[in-house]
Amino acid sequence: MPEAKPLLAEQLASDPRLAEARRLIAEAVGEHQAAVDGPRPADPARAAGHQQAVDSFFASRGAPLWYPYLGSGFGVGPLVELGDGSVKWDMLSGIGVHHFGHLHPEFVDAGLDAALSDTVMQGGFQHNADAAECMARFIRLAQAPPVGGGTGSSLSHCFLTTSGAMANENSFKMAFQKRALEGHPADRMLAFEGTFCGRTLALSAMSDKPGNRVGLPLAMNVDYVPFLDPADEAGSTQRAVKRLQEHLARWPGHHAGMKLELVIGEGGFYPGSRDFFAALVGPLKEAGVAVICDEIQTFGRTSRPFAFQHFGLDEHVDLVNVGKATQVCCTLFTDAWAPKPGLIAQTFSGATSSIRAGLRVLEACENGGLFETDADRGHVLALGDAVRGRVRAYAAKHPDRVTGPYGVGCMFAFQPGDGSMATARKLCETLFDAGLIAFVCGRAVTRVRFLLPAGGMSIEQGHAVCDLLEEVLDGFQW
Ligand SMILES: Cc1ncc(COP(=O)(O)O)c(C=O)c1O
Repeated sequence: MPEAKPLLAEQLASDPRLAEARRLIAEAVGEHQAAVDGPRPADPARAAGHQQAVDSFFASRGAPLWYPYLGSGFGVGPLVELGDGSVKWDMLSGIGVHHFGHLHPEFVDAGLDAALSDTVMQGGFQHNADAAECMARFIRLAQAPPVGGGTGSSLSHCFLTTSGAMANENSFKMAFQKRALEGHPADRMLAFEGTFCGRTLALSAMSDKPGNRVGLPLAMNVDYVPFLDPADEAGSTQRAVKRLQEHLARWPGHHAGMKLELVIGEGGFYPGSRDFFAALVGPLKEAGVAVICDEIQTFGRTSRPFAFQHFGLDEHVDLVNVGKATQVCCTLFTDAWAPKPGLIAQTFSGATSSIRAGLRVLEACENGGLFETDADRGHVLALGDAVRGRVRAYAAKHPDRVTGPYGVGCMFAFQPGDGSMATARKLCETLFDAGLIAFVCGRAVTRVRFLLPAGGMSIEQGHAVCDLLEEVLDGFQW
């Protein structure tokens, strides 16, 4: 075989001028980042201009957001600079997007890869080789064997997409289609009480938030199963299995899939357990109903890259959706649930910069350090334990102020005071002004949640965040 000539793209990529430009960019970014090691107050001279920009942003989108958050575009690890010149600990992380911190050198470099690539948005008939590599890496990570040995999942396909909602939609379509083609009525889905799944018409029908579907027609029939109650694990598991069996018996053949949110996110950071999920999987498999994991908020935040791996569901998952931390979203699926031609396609499956950043995320997940192995617990658990330990100690001293902590790994929350939305909101706003961004979650009680950016945050920084949190809690008007 004659030796292949380097592609034009390869020749460009290996041009020494580009290597030098990348080196200089990395050096400049690093130097500017080195000057920032903690939060900073806003610059009073920027207050009016920033407020105007925020007001205009809110007016353009037709509604305000919780926070006057408009980033300057600069940050380092868990610290982000806003347009008013303030630098804050970002523990909201864009609700889980900045899991590798702000302006991560790998993402800067991935952005340069993308800038040198001809395609801004990839998809349909305009995919590049990097998309294929990204898909193959997602599959490899999803098939990784469990810690201690055993067989990984059978997820052998990957469809990239632009949002968590689209990933969920695509997986539901695959589930409905397979069941319908097998001759089942297949017009219902199952989900947990308190679940959130995105804001398309169909997903608004499933998300257990009545306010999100005011005025919308019902686009999907959903039957709900109660989630694990940590105060009564055995009893709540029994009740959940019973409810599931009742739904399956009431609508034989009608259910296409059950969407499992393995840690209820928007609903309040309630983790399930291995035994709980194992008990539900039995009846689902028996009925031929797809086990669909919505990992859009959980990916990267438990002991393993996927929460289904953390909860030992490797051999049971049929379809798995990821987003947020991965930068590019996708549905992973087994052979059995593969769609027929025409069911799933998109002009845009992701920006080249997001696909390239996704590749760096997957590399970091595979390269070790973050997740549990036979030898090590991994940084995600270590950071989560350190921060939760501090909050637990504070709660023990001040049970009237803080209850908790709750959650798993780097998804953790606590209940401030009486658990009302008013208290949680006031606390979040006070934290924001003090230089710490967190957010609310929950239904019956409101909690304050942190999505610790484990891929870009040290344990020392975790303690610095806790120092500030305690200072604010001590001075808060309860
Ligand atoms: C569990 C879960 N599923 C789906 C979504 C929807 O993702 P997106 O906002 O990217 O459409 C979210 C977003 O918060 C989520 O937390």
